[in-house]
Amino acid sequence: MAILSPSILGADVLNVKRDLEATEAAGVKWLHVDIMDGHFVPNMSFGYSFVSALKKATDITLDVHLMIEKPIRYVEEFCRAGADYLTVHIEADTPENISHTLDKIKELGVKPGIVVKPKTGLDAIKPYLEKCELVLVMTVEPGFGGQKFMADMMPKLRAIREELDRVNPDCHLEVDGGVDLVTGEICKANGANVLVAGSAFYKAENKTSFREKIEA
Ligand code: DX5
Ligand code: ZN
Repeated sequence: MAILSPSILGADVLNVKRDLEATEAAGVKWLHVDIMDGHFVPNMSFGYSFVSALKKATDITLDVHLMIEKPIRYVEEFCRAGADYLTVHIEADTPENISHTLDKIKELGVKPGIVVKPKTGLDAIKPYLEKCELVLVMTVEPGFGGQKFMADMMPKLRAIREELDRVNPDCHLEVDGGVDLVTGEICKANGANVLVAGSAFYKAENKTSFREKIEA
């Protein structure tokens, strides 16, 4: 069974509480929180005070996606703020520093994960897969919601699932970017079990039915 992780970036910023309540009412178990630094990606979003406010407001599992250059500088704050899963991009620092960052997240009692941008292949993350509880494959260039799904990421997704089955079968495999009811089916068929959806979820008239279809 798959898990839907709605991206709160797709909510209405002036009505986050209302949209969070609608998210809970739809029976959602995970919430995806995009953190952008205006440097690793050409956009800015939320800081750790937002994660901390979400943690106080809801029991939903917080899946925090850091799009930050040299994330080691901030992981402590995001772990303390209440992230349940904390993912960092392999491209955001040297591979050795990212490996060390994953260890630090784990030491802080949070589930670590690694993210790959569209141009990054399986080989770049292979040595670190055993340290991860979540691997996130971007199906758009990170930075903005509402972009078109890149179907050409599917061979990489399938290759990562096959490698995880070999070395770390309990690790979640997540996709992020342009996921809706149609592209979500393609991702599940290629091995994803956690699906992020921002615009498609927050635009859906019936959020419970959207979740049930994604999680079917
Ligand atoms: C993009 C973010 C995504 C984004 C997804 O950089 O990582 O999580 O919110 O939004 P949609 O589902 O609209 O593509
Ligand atoms: Zn994201």
